[in-house]
Amino acid sequence: MSQQIKKIVLAYSGGLDTSVMVKWLAEKYQAEIVCYSADLGQGENLDSLEDKAINSGASKIYIENLQDEFIKDYVFPALKANALYENKYPLATALARPLIASKMIEIAKEEGADAVAHGCTGKGNDQVRFDFSFRILQPNIKIIAPLREWSFGSRDEEIDYAKLNNIPVSVTKEKPYSIDRNLWGVSVECGVLENPWCEPPADVYQITTDPLQAPDKAEYLEISFEKGVPVAINGEISSAVELVKKLNQIGGVHGIGRIDMVENRLVGIKSREIYEAPAAIILHAAHQALEDMVLERETSHYKAGVSLKYAEMIYFGQWFTPLRKALQAFVDSTQQNVTGVIRVKLLKGNCIVVGRKSPHSLYIENLATYTQEDTFDHGSAEGFIKLWGLSNQVYSQVNQEE
Ligand code: ARG
Repeated sequence: MSQQIKKIVLAYSGGLDTSVMVKWLAEKYQAEIVCYSADLGQGENLDSLEDKAINSGASKIYIENLQDEFIKDYVFPALKANALYENKYPLATALARPLIASKMIEIAKEEGADAVAHGCTGKGNDQVRFDFSFRILQPNIKIIAPLREWSFGSRDEEIDYAKLNNIPVSVTKEKPYSIDRNLWGVSVECGVLENPWCEPPADVYQITTDPLQAPDKAEYLEISFEKGVPVAINGEISSAVELVKKLNQIGGVHGIGRIDMVENRLVGIKSREIYEAPAAIILHAAHQALEDMVLERETSHYKAGVSLKYAEMIYFGQWFTPLRKALQAFVDSTQQNVTGVIRVKLLKGNCIVVGRKSPHSLYIENLATYTQEDTFDHGSAEGFIKLWGLSNQVYSQVNQEE
């Protein structure tokens, strides 16, 4: 079986695991290794990756800037769906995986590779997201996840193997956390965080100020949306990527977007994760507030159920499935009138919606007011309530126990 594999496309970060993996895969399968690295705004310089990959034994590396595609085709569709896993996690890591997987499959086809490989562990969600996406996009591709099968028992054993094989690894002191970062947020786990009683130490946070140290003065932002997509801050039109970067920066200063949660992984484990997602938290709050103004009640309530399912599907790696696409079509059709401006106030870790306006607003002041201007038909209320409650009234009358 293993002899048949001639070329493998590996999702490569340049860290210890994937560096060792280049050599390990090449040896085990006697195969050519093509590395793939995506720039998703993880805040790392990817320039050195080429030399590193080649020196680890790869024949070639593709480094692609996917920031724009990530935000436009993955993040904003999920924002339109109000997708927060377990009502909290904006899904930064989960949304990136199907995009990376699809690019790797494209390259595998171009390169005539027979396998794809990734460095995900055997107990996480990311292996599911990669494998599942690979399978849908290229059903007969061979998938290799070395961490599920190799015999290194520790980081030190990997370092020894790297030294023995002249694999360039920057052997720094082991980082206390496992961190995954992109434009939509930072995910941090491991170390002291594995104890759910332990408050996250200050060094967990990468992009947000401690709310205690954040400015005492509130900052107001006006965020404009067009058909559910954010397009401007304070009236200034921005590209998708710039807009998210700006909100991460401003929100970060005010300590917005820190999330500490215990979540249900797909593989059945509960895990504790810390997220930082200033832009995501601000945009979700603003988008929801705008929908509250413009969606008709039944659509709004129904959509909340769809959001729950949609978020779960993203978390479970089901991006490329027909059901996710069908739900997306529903979501997109609800966004027709989600155009307007939301005013938020950022203060010491809080993002509070304080104003909203839209040309499609269904908030009619004359209907809502308790003043002279009131146009609501009070007379119809009595009959409406009588009939609306009739079935329950009949039930009570018939079943009254004396
Ligand atoms: N729990 C998150 C998810 O499943 C993030 C996983 C990656 N986290 C990390 N710290 N490496 O999407």
